[in-house]
Amino acid sequence: MITDNEIKEKWFKFFEKHGFKRIENASIIPENDPTVLFTTAGMHPIVPYLLGEKHPAGNKLYNIQRCIRTGDIDEVGDSCHLTSFEMLGNWFLGDCPKEEMIKLSFEFLTSKEYLGIPKERLATTVFAGDETAPRDELTYKAWKNCGIENVFFQGKEDNWWALGGGVGPCGPDTEMFYDTGKKACGPNCSPSCSCGKYMEIWNDVFMQYKVEKAGEKAISLSRPNIDTGLGLERALVVFNGVESIYDTGVFKEVIDFIGTKAKLKYTENEKTTRAYRIITDHLRSAMFILGDARGVVPSNIGQGYILRRLIRRAVNCARNISLDTKFFGEIIDIFVDKHGVDYPDIARNRQFIKTELDKEVEKFSKALEEGHKEFDKVIFGIEKHKEFALKQGQVVDNVISGKACFRLYDTFGFPFELTKELAKERGYDVDEAGFKLAFEEHQEKSRTASAGTFKGGLADSSYESAKLHTATHLIMAGLRKMFGSQVMQKGSNITPERLRIDFNLDHKMTPEELSTLENFVNDVISKEIDVSYEEMSIGDAKKSGAVGVFENKYGDVVKVYTIGNISKEICGGPHAKNTRDLHHLKIVKEESSSSGVRRIKAVLD
Ligand code: ALA
Repeated sequence: MITDNEIKEKWFKFFEKHGFKRIENASIIPENDPTVLFTTAGMHPIVPYLLGEKHPAGNKLYNIQRCIRTGDIDEVGDSCHLTSFEMLGNWFLGDCPKEEMIKLSFEFLTSKEYLGIPKERLATTVFAGDETAPRDELTYKAWKNCGIENVFFQGKEDNWWALGGGVGPCGPDTEMFYDTGKKACGPNCSPSCSCGKYMEIWNDVFMQYKVEKAGEKAISLSRPNIDTGLGLERALVVFNGVESIYDTGVFKEVIDFIGTKAKLKYTENEKTTRAYRIITDHLRSAMFILGDARGVVPSNIGQGYILRRLIRRAVNCARNISLDTKFFGEIIDIFVDKHGVDYPDIARNRQFIKTELDKEVEKFSKALEEGHKEFDKVIFGIEKHKEFALKQGQVVDNVISGKACFRLYDTFGFPFELTKELAKERGYDVDEAGFKLAFEEHQEKSRTASAGTFKGGLADSSYESAKLHTATHLIMAGLRKMFGSQVMQKGSNITPERLRIDFNLDHKMTPEELSTLENFVNDVISKEIDVSYEEMSIGDAKKSGAVGVFENKYGDVVKVYTIGNISKEICGGPHAKNTRDLHHLKIVKEESSSSGVRRIKAVLD
């Protein structure tokens, strides 16, 4: 058995040998990108660099990145889907040496020193070309030169990679598969079919293009890149020849632990297997989110809603296998022991994770009891209505209205998906569109985002984000000037519309203090000061007096952004070029974030 740690070590050794620099994994909550809720791939945190900005660590990089992808949440419970995973990635920035990358991939996969897969067991896919981009002959030849027999040309559906929203850097890719040796399912059997003969290992994306606005054509990047990603958990399945992701070292201990505490067995039936797996996957993802330094807790919006949904689904599955939720804490401990080494925030936040999890479980358990009663009432109502209608010669469908679903959600804390699942069990459908409408009406009121992503794409919003990012630095400078240099940033989040900043302060800010702060920032804006940056070592940055909120983020060399003699901060950027671009700042809210931490929301108008 090869373990996850062994694969990681090999990855590090391999890329160091080839002159790549390791970069730290970023927060699982994107810092300056309002277009997504979570970091979904290793490339996500480095989008600005893929679009041409200079990376302080150079142009050959690698790392491991924890990622959350909830798009396939309904598939979780089968043998290979997860809501969180670790991605091993490497990059060439501003350079696209395809042949070199393919040789590197080939060496890592086949060399005895690394993964040692016989080359006969490898198959690869290559972009076949269409009206938007040419067939990737170079890549095809490179694989053939390595001695790979099975190279398949495929279309855009299979061999083109772009971020979830379809906006940002993108391009053709070449994927590497392990041939399990199973019989081909037919004459057209290929890596893109799901018969199980081929298992995906690694993806090399040639980022030669970018899409600026959703729906628009891709345009060539003047400085193309290579972005690759190897999903660690799936790779473990391949290399160890096991049936499912849950048979690998990452999850097995938790599955076995649940087996000692639950009344029903893992292999009892399909439903119990799914329940064990969902609990395992969802609690690990909840740990990644709660363990992140950015302090997301369960709520009804944004990341907090996803977190709430993960925890509540786990509770529901626990009911299905008669597992007492009091054991969730021990499951978290197993995962924290496992991941706390690579992600120290998780180890630091062990108690916070467990406390917040417990709180949510308790809240949900109470609501669930009430909600189940309410759900029964809804069903009873429909049945009565059906009876009545039948007497009139009418047929009423088995559908729970959107309004009723929303009431269950809003008043009883039932996630919509839970209503859907319960409805399915009882032979009912739900009015999804009706629910969405009710939900949106509600959200409109609080102007918050739902479980989806924000409007607009990365390119649309990156200019706005840069300005808000600069404004955040100015607010910090103002706060430190007013209250002293012990005031530090505790968190930040930027959407296309507003900025949010958390900082330590021992009191609620008075209206006078807020207007002093606002005036300070607007004064700097009107002075039209240039924003510049310099690259230097962490040591020099500290010596220069830079505020180090994100230190250690990008290895040894960091960027220090300076705004005249007003602000000096270690930061990855991007920023506005001059404070005049910000036009005018307005603070819209000041509130408590947590004990001793205040939160300001502000907009540029
Ligand atoms: N970003 C690419 C992926 O997620 C490597 O597959």
